[in-house]
Amino acid sequence: MKVTVKVPATSANLGPGFDCLGLALPIYNTITIEETVLPGTGVEINLMSENETIDEMIFDNVPKDENSIIYKAVEMLYNSIGQEPSELKINIQSQIPITRGLGSSASVVVGGLIAANKLLGSPADTTALLSIATEVEGHPDNVAPAILGGFVLASQEDDGSILTEKLNWPEEWDITVCIPDFELSTNIARSVLPENVPMADAVFNAKHLAMLVQAVNTKDEKLMKTALQDKLHQPYREKLIPGMKEIMEAFKHEDGIIGCVLSGAGPSMLIISYKYDLDKIKTVVRDIWEGQSIKTDIRTLKIENSGAKIIEE
Ligand code: HSE
Repeated sequence: MKVTVKVPATSANLGPGFDCLGLALPIYNTITIEETVLPGTGVEINLMSENETIDEMIFDNVPKDENSIIYKAVEMLYNSIGQEPSELKINIQSQIPITRGLGSSASVVVGGLIAANKLLGSPADTTALLSIATEVEGHPDNVAPAILGGFVLASQEDDGSILTEKLNWPEEWDITVCIPDFELSTNIARSVLPENVPMADAVFNAKHLAMLVQAVNTKDEKLMKTALQDKLHQPYREKLIPGMKEIMEAFKHEDGIIGCVLSGAGPSMLIISYKYDLDKIKTVVRDIWEGQSIKTDIRTLKIENSGAKIIEE
C-alpha cells in the first residue's frame, strides 16, 4: 500500500510570536510512503527537488536513512501504538526551498506522519500527530499550520499537550516572501539566542503578541504595524543574515507596509502589506540583496487555508 500527502510551506514567528505563531503558504512538498514487501530492505528515502541546483547540493547532506527526521517521526508513530516500522520506501518531491525559514523540515515530518498514520489504519488523531510532530521539530509553530492550514497560534503546554487556535488572516493583507539564495539552518539560528532574556524584553513581546491577535481579529493595519515588533529572536539573528537590517529599515516608515519580519528562523523575509505596490517591494529587496551579491526569489502569495491533504492512497 502507498499513501501520498501534499503539505504546505509555513512561515513561523511573525515577529513577536516566537515559537507559537505560524501561517501556511501555497508552496508544497509531496511525500509518498510505501510499505515494501521485501523484508530486510530497511528504509529507502528519495529526495527530488523542483528548485535550482543549490537544493541538489543541500540534498546531498540530508540524511536519507534511519537518521532522517521523517523516519524518526514515522518511527515514533509506530512505537506509540507498540509497533516497529515495516520496510518503507519514502519519496519526497520538494518545492519548498530547504533551510530558508519556510518550514521544509516541518512539512516532511507532517507528510510522513499523515502518510504513515493512514498506512496503519489511522490510529492517531490530529492532536496525537501534532504532538509527535512537535516533539520532532522542538516547537509547534511550523507543524501546526502545516497540518491545519491558515494562520495558527500553537502552544506546547507544560504537560506536553499542544493547544492550537486558528486566527482569521485578513484577505486584503498581501504576503510577500523574499527568499535569498543562501541557507541558514534552524540549529545555527537558534544557537545565537540567549538562554535568558531581560524581563523588559519578555514583557515587550507579550504585549505585542496580544496586540497582533487583536489587530488580526479586527483587521487593524495600524495596530498590526505596531504589533509586528520583536525583541526575543530577530535582534540576535540579524548578524547571521546579510541585508536583513537594511530591508527592515527600508520598509519601516512606508505607508501601506504593515510589517517586515523574519520568516521562521530566516533567512527569508516576510513582508505584509495593504494596497501597496508589490513591484516596489520586489525592487527594494532585490536592490539590497543583489547589492550584496545575493540572488533572490520573491513571491507574493495568498495564505493556504487547507493544510496537509492525502492526495493518493
Ligand atoms: N520558531 C522557530 C525559530 C521556527 O524561530 O527558531 C524555526 O523553524
